[in-house]
Amino acid sequence: MITVVGSINMDLVVGTERFPKQGETVLGNLYTTVPGGKGANQAVAAARLGAKVGMIGAVGTDPFGDELALNLENEGVDTSDVKRVEGPSGIANILLTESDNRIIVVPGANHKLMPEDIEQCEQAIGSSDLIVLQLEIPIPSVLRTLEIAHRHGVPAILNPAPADGFTDVFLQYEPILTPNENEAAMMFGETWEQALEAHPNRLIVTLGKEGARYYDGERHVRVPGIRVNAVDTTGAGDTFNGALAVALAEEMPMKGAIRFANAAASLSVEQFGAQGGMPGREETMRRLQLTE
Ligand code: RIB
Repeated sequence: MITVVGSINMDLVVGTERFPKQGETVLGNLYTTVPGGKGANQAVAAARLGAKVGMIGAVGTDPFGDELALNLENEGVDTSDVKRVEGPSGIANILLTESDNRIIVVPGANHKLMPEDIEQCEQAIGSSDLIVLQLEIPIPSVLRTLEIAHRHGVPAILNPAPADGFTDVFLQYEPILTPNENEAAMMFGETWEQALEAHPNRLIVTLGKEGARYYDGERHVRVPGIRVNAVDTTGAGDTFNGALAVALAEEMPMKGAIRFANAAASLSVEQFGAQGGMPGREETMRRLQLTE
């Protein structure tokens, strides 16, 4: 069982040919709402790849809350530890152009997932094969999860996004960290490459279409990405993390696990929406074989 502890958002997506400059108004060409949130995305990615997945999180009492919980259930994710809290669900305002996106998250219910809620889920955390976390819930709740998982000997992947919530205190629990290059620079400074050697097999820096880098204890490894025609890169990192969790829970070696995650992420960007293009197992294996 993979347990994802994290955010559940409704993504309010606005498409535009170009981002407006400061003080400028432009006309958009799309508005839609789709389920998102880094935690929920990672849970859905892992579930589509065949893992048994449980989610610990919070949604609001608004209609988005119903929709978001139902979406997770339809994807086969166990939502018994998703709590309902008074007030609005988390939302993400996503501005989308053909080549880029800009996201503002308003946490809503996600910020009401407190350390006491996490403690109530100790049994679920302690009996998991692997825990997956991000930083869109309160940091004390992330810390409590890491502490419980560590005490039970359960490995954790911490996707440190948004990276301004990152603190060195997390490191004592030895999570596998999966920042992108910008996040790595925020966490370890512009010379983040030096940090790879200090965290062998535990610091995986994703490089978008260039793949990912890590240090295996003896040498630096770059696992190349798979180049595709991207339609929407929202959720690509989440697909990578969900797939990495599946692969590591199945005890694949790190390099193979990253190749699997790269293949899943490459498929995810070929369709619209954070969860829209997340692939199943067969599709991912086919893409993997094509690149061998
Ligand atoms: O990583 C993409 C996700 O970030 C979106 O789905 C949005 O909800 C934000 O959490």
